[in-house]
Amino acid sequence: MKIDLDHLHYWMCAIRESKDPMRTLDAFWRGQMRSKEWLIETLEHVIYPERNKTMNFPINVDIHGGWVGTLASMLFQSAIPVDHIRSIDIDPECESIAKMMNKTEEIEGRFSAITADMCLIESSADIIINTSCEHISQGQYDLWLSNLPDTSLIVLQSNDYSIPEHIRPADNLEHFIEQSHIKVEHKCELKLPLYKRFMIIGRK
Ligand SMILES: C[S@@+](CC[C@H](N)C(=O)[O-])C[C@H]1O[C@@H](n2cnc3c(N)ncnc32)[C@H](O)[C@@H]1O
Repeated sequence: MKIDLDHLHYWMCAIRESKDPMRTLDAFWRGQMRSKEWLIETLEHVIYPERNKTMNFPINVDIHGGWVGTLASMLFQSAIPVDHIRSIDIDPECESIAKMMNKTEEIEGRFSAITADMCLIESSADIIINTSCEHISQGQYDLWLSNLPDTSLIVLQSNDYSIPEHIRPADNLEHFIEQSHIKVEHKCELKLPLYKRFMIIGRK
């Protein structure tokens, strides 16, 4: 994946203008970035070619628990023909940082960031991504899933990293599938130095 200079400029502005730049930098750890690159590679090479014939263009994406917008920015710079991304996060600090991270696309009207609880929001995007599954309880997850349309492609990530803020880690990939209650079309696992990350893609 190549990150161009204009996008890199806005990434630096987003970090510099954050209330807590060190906290924002947590989104840029190698493991965090690699997990997002892995998600995009998987969509590009495994899922996207299969969908190519049937998926309506342009593609709209919702990222639930979108944090500071790194995944959105990387998706815009990928080969996936993304038209619009909406990033939803419950933390009000994330909205302005995510907008700066994706300033070019925000100006073009292709990116929006909102502060909201993902469990209470309606989504109708072609692809709905939640890489924050370990941050919500099973009850919250089940409520979240119940609000999603049957037609959207759902992309989920979790991990086995046991730290206090991870209230629902998965022991392994099969455990993550059990937690997730979707019809799995693709499943995979990424070994990182400190933990394993799990990804499943499917529909309700
Ligand atoms: C640490 S971050 C992202 C971690 C994840 N592994 C990743 O790389 O994308 C988790 C995010 O989920 C958000 N979050 C947690 N509960 C949420 C909810 N109910 N609705 C929306 N966002 C939520 C937090 O505010 C935070 O920005």
